[in-house]
Amino acid sequence: MKKYRAAVIGLGFIGPLHLDALMRVPQAEIAAVCDADPAALRLHAERLGVPAVADWHAVIDDPSIDVIHNCLPPGLHDAVNRAALLQGKHLYCEKPLSLTAASARQMAELAEKQGVRAALNHQYRMNAAVREMRAQVQKGMAGRVLAVTGCYLQESAVRASDWSSRMENTGISRTLSDIGTHWADTACCVLGQPIARVFADLHIHHPVRTDSEGKAHRMDTEDTGFILMRFEDGTPGQVTVSKAASGHKNDLRLSVWGDSYSLAWEQEQPDRLRRGIQGVGFETVYMNPKTCQAETRPFITAPMGHVMGWPDALRNAVQAFYDSLADPKAPSPCATLRDGFAHMAFVEACVQSSRENRWVEVEAW
Ligand SMILES: NC(=O)c1ccc[n+]([C@@H]2O[C@H](COP(=O)([O-])OP(=O)(O)OC[C@H]3O[C@@H](n4cnc5c(N)ncnc54)[C@H](O)[C@@H]3O)[C@@H](O)[C@H]2O)c1
Repeated sequence: MKKYRAAVIGLGFIGPLHLDALMRVPQAEIAAVCDADPAALRLHAERLGVPAVADWHAVIDDPSIDVIHNCLPPGLHDAVNRAALLQGKHLYCEKPLSLTAASARQMAELAEKQGVRAALNHQYRMNAAVREMRAQVQKGMAGRVLAVTGCYLQESAVRASDWSSRMENTGISRTLSDIGTHWADTACCVLGQPIARVFADLHIHHPVRTDSEGKAHRMDTEDTGFILMRFEDGTPGQVTVSKAASGHKNDLRLSVWGDSYSLAWEQEQPDRLRRGIQGVGFETVYMNPKTCQAETRPFITAPMGHVMGWPDALRNAVQAFYDSLADPKAPSPCATLRDGFAHMAFVEACVQSSRENRWVEVEAW
């Protein structure tokens, strides 16, 4: 088996979860870790017994590294991605791809020109239950899709005193680009088509936030968004995205209403679907290799009731990425950099729609 030497750049929240996932992927060998924070760098380098590199340029310039995992804050994605692609490295980047649709498009074009494999970490689409929903919807088993609804709700920005440096340098959007892109990726992956038009109503609940030392920070990006949409074939949809929803931890929900039955998935109960039947009610569908669609099976990593959750979806995503490296041009279930462009085009259309109080077309590839 060919082993690919991976380096993870950025060891804050998500980087160590990439490391955990990499340890479960047989084709991956962790070759180096990188972070500007000496404590995080030492911790992970020592526990893994791999080189600690403080400067990300040195990781990119190392010819022995095959794959770069970019787990830096969004404002740093472009510089690292561009350098990695120009060095001919495979790239696995955290979402959102970039701060603007224009720069996301440039990065997707560069990746295609370089002929390497480049993907985005939208791991929700890699849950077995989401794969099953996708298979049933795209095979027409649920019937004609009448509508799509959902939400992605968190609670980190409820109070004016909720402030973090992660709220800065996020471009023209914050909540939509951070978690709205996850919902859009999941919904578009299930439907197999992009979002074509939006009508958005975005809200900044606290125009000024104060940090723990009492310093004021002016906010110019949204806490909450209510979005109506049309998918490419005209199917209507609606999503509410917020970081100001008390009690909601990581509450991503997606519901597809077919005219045979509806299917609903909730991220906080990730190992099952709810199937809604007219005149009957809802039944719970666990991910069972004996009853699921054949294409779902590779994503089922534990028996029913041994709840496959958030880290398992990330492992599925990283596994799928390393499976795809043997032939960088073959189809892969991972989110592509073109998807990353589409998500930023969706975000920009929402911001424009809310400002201008009208439907806006989402820029297509
Ligand atoms: N897929 C998901 O569900 C998910 C979840 C959380 C975060 N993310 C994404 O992951 C990325 C990182 O988010 P996070 O929550 O881990 O952020 P974080 O702030 O916790 O971690 C970022 C790390 O980058 C390091 N860093 C910053 N500048 C650096 C530099 N110039 N050189 C080297 N290291 C540097 C910091 O020291 C820190 O350890 C973001 O794009 C975010 O949107 C994705």
